[in-house]
Amino acid sequence: MQDVLTRTAPLYDRVSRVIPPAEWTLFEEDIEAILELKRERNAVILAHNYQTPEIFHCVADIVGDSLALAREAQTVRADTIVMAGVHFMAETAKLLNPAKRVLMPDMRAGCSLAESITPADVRLLRSRYPGVPVVTYVNTSAAVKAESDVCCTSGNARRIVEGLGTESVIMIPDEYLAQNIANETGIRIITWAGHCEVHERFTPEEIRRLRAENPGIVVLAHPECPPEVVAEADFSGSTAHMSEFVASGRSSRVLLITECSMSDNLAVLHPDIEFVRPCNLCPHMKRITLPAIRNCLETMTTEVEIELHLAVRARAAVERMLAL
Ligand code: 13P
Ligand code: SF4
Repeated sequence: MQDVLTRTAPLYDRVSRVIPPAEWTLFEEDIEAILELKRERNAVILAHNYQTPEIFHCVADIVGDSLALAREAQTVRADTIVMAGVHFMAETAKLLNPAKRVLMPDMRAGCSLAESITPADVRLLRSRYPGVPVVTYVNTSAAVKAESDVCCTSGNARRIVEGLGTESVIMIPDEYLAQNIANETGIRIITWAGHCEVHERFTPEEIRRLRAENPGIVVLAHPECPPEVVAEADFSGSTAHMSEFVASGRSSRVLLITECSMSDNLAVLHPDIEFVRPCNLCPHMKRITLPAIRNCLETMTTEVEIELHLAVRARAAVERMLAL
C-alpha cells in the first residue's frame, strides 16, 4: 500500500509553486481524509478566491467570487454544502438551497462589513429617504438582506445600480464600494459607513511606492478599497474580474490590491506571471483551515439555519439580483 505522501503527490504537483514540501506534510493527511469524507457524506465544498491554496486547489469542488458562489450554489446536486468562506456566503447558499444542509467549518468566520449594519439601521435609512431603493451588498446578514430591495456583489454592483433606473439609490453597507460605483455611474448614492477591514488598509502612497520599486507592474484593485486607492490602480473589479484580467495575459507582472491568498491561487494557475505581494490577510477567511473542514465533515456541524420569515424576504432580494 502506498504511503500518504505518494498518494497525494499529484495534488502536491499542482500547488508546489506556493506550498513548500515541509508545509505540505502538515496538510496531506487532512486532504486525504476530506476527499474521503466528501464521498461518504455526499458533500461538496464551495471555496472563495481568498481561501488558501491547499483548500482552493486541493479540496474545493467549486471556486469563485461571491457572485459565482451564489450562482453555483444553485446547481449543487449533493445533499450537503460546506462553505469554505465566511458566514454571509454560507447564508446566501442556504437561502438559495433551503432543502440542503449548509455547513460552516467555523461559525466565527464573519465579516467587518456584515457586522457594520443591522436591520434597524436599514429601516432608519428607508424612513429618511422614502421611495429610494435599497441595494444591499451580499456581505451582510440574511436579516439585513430581508430589509432590502435587491442584493449586489462587487461583480455586478454597477449593473444592478444602473438597472434600477432611479436618480438616487441607497447602497449599503460598504461606503467605499458605493463611492466607487457613484464615481463610475454618476448616480447619487446614499451609503453607510461600513468598511472591509482588509481593503481599507491599502493606501495610495503604498501603491505609488510599489510602482516605483517594481517598474512595469499592472495594479488591480478591489472596489472595496477607498476611491483614492482605486484611482491609483490600472483596473478595478471583483475577485473574479481580477482573475479574468490576469488570465488574459495582458501583463507579466501584477500587483493585486486585495487579500493575500488570491495571488497564491492565481500563481498556481499562471506560472509565467510574477505577483508582487503586499499582504493583507482577512482574519475571517483564515479561520477556515483543513482541520476545521475535516472536523465539519466528520461531525456534520455547524449547520447554518435562517428563520423562515427572514429567509423568504432575504431570498427574494438575492433572487432579484440573480435575475438581473
Ligand atoms: P468578491 O469575491 O465578490 O469580489 O468579494 C470579495 C470579498 O471581500 C468577499 O468577502
Ligand atoms: Fe469581509 Fe473584507 Fe474579509 Fe471579505 S475580505 S470577508 S469583505 S472582512
